[in-house]
Amino acid sequence: MPEIHTSTGQFEFPLYLAPMAGFSDMAFRSLCKREGADMLVSEFVMANAVLAAGENSRIWDTLAFLPEQRPYGVQLFGAEPSLMAEAARKLADRLVPDFIDINCGCPAPKIVDQNAGSALLKDLPLMASVARAVVRAVPELPVTVKMRSGWDQAHIVAPEAARMLEREGVAAIAVHGRTRMQGYGGDADWDLIAEVARAVRIPVIGNGAVNGAYSIERAKASGVSGLMVGRAALGKPWIFRQLKAVMAGAPCPPEPDATLKLHTMLDYARALLGSGEDIRKIRPKLKPFTEGIAGARKLRAQMDALSSLPDLENYVTNLLHDSPEKSENK
Ligand SMILES: Cc1cc2nc3c(=O)[nH]c(=O)nc-3n(C[C@H](O)[C@H](O)[C@H](O)COP(=O)(O)O)c2cc1C
Repeated sequence: MPEIHTSTGQFEFPLYLAPMAGFSDMAFRSLCKREGADMLVSEFVMANAVLAAGENSRIWDTLAFLPEQRPYGVQLFGAEPSLMAEAARKLADRLVPDFIDINCGCPAPKIVDQNAGSALLKDLPLMASVARAVVRAVPELPVTVKMRSGWDQAHIVAPEAARMLEREGVAAIAVHGRTRMQGYGGDADWDLIAEVARAVRIPVIGNGAVNGAYSIERAKASGVSGLMVGRAALGKPWIFRQLKAVMAGAPCPPEPDATLKLHTMLDYARALLGSGEDIRKIRPKLKPFTEGIAGARKLRAQMDALSSLPDLENYVTNLLHDSPEKSENK
């Protein structure tokens, strides 16, 4: 069975950037890699969409990556084992990623209604069939699964599902310690994540509310092999550098100042616009970079009026030039 580069050599305790549809695009993945993320995963793509994709489909832009961004995994969702297998094969041939990840966590009704994402937590035999089909379809690649703890608090299945997936040849499992019904609110259940880590021999990656130095202690205590960071990385790719420092026993480096934050945002905007994105659509990706800057709420409102890259560049220049005191971090 191909091994995932997790606790097995390349990284002692890998930090993953969580897949986040609409946010973890190639430019953002790049930023996070530069700041210390070890493992990157694409935004999720639907098996049918991969199968239907022709040469010039936008999907290939969504999934593109640079050699220096390896190890890189592509995340697939779907509920039909044969389609998932075919899509995984097509991705493996065309992109040669380092692993294929199966989404068993998405709570969105439009995904769940197709029996995909977190709906697979309600049908473990189907989850097993999907995993088996994908594992067989790409024998040269590790197949991983990302799942939630269960559908709801009365149906926590992650430990059982993990044992089952291990038997099917899955190479690693990321556990988001919230149920489907919890959505994204509240804390994650790290006791449950620890239970999953004890239940299997393959690496278990802990995910959910990883947002500061204390997360490292909590993760180490839970026995996981690595950590996956989601929302705490939005607008703050340097969280990986901070977590790495804490892991090495050093003090947590401070947040960058407002100038560096805004310049990082500008570089990111340039990369996105250079790849053909529309400034109106990328505002939600840029706004998190203003977090912690004095007057951030007003800044975010003003950003809604910007309609081109030069507008954004002038805006940042004027902001930093005219009133540097205003832009200092709180
Ligand atoms: C905007 C957004 C998009 C997401 N998209 C995906 C996705 O495509 N695939 C996936 O497995 N999880 C997705 N997630 C879930 C995250 O990967 C992660 O499991 C979740 O946010 C919990 O981690 P956190 O508490 O560190 O944010 C998404 C989350 C957010 C907030």
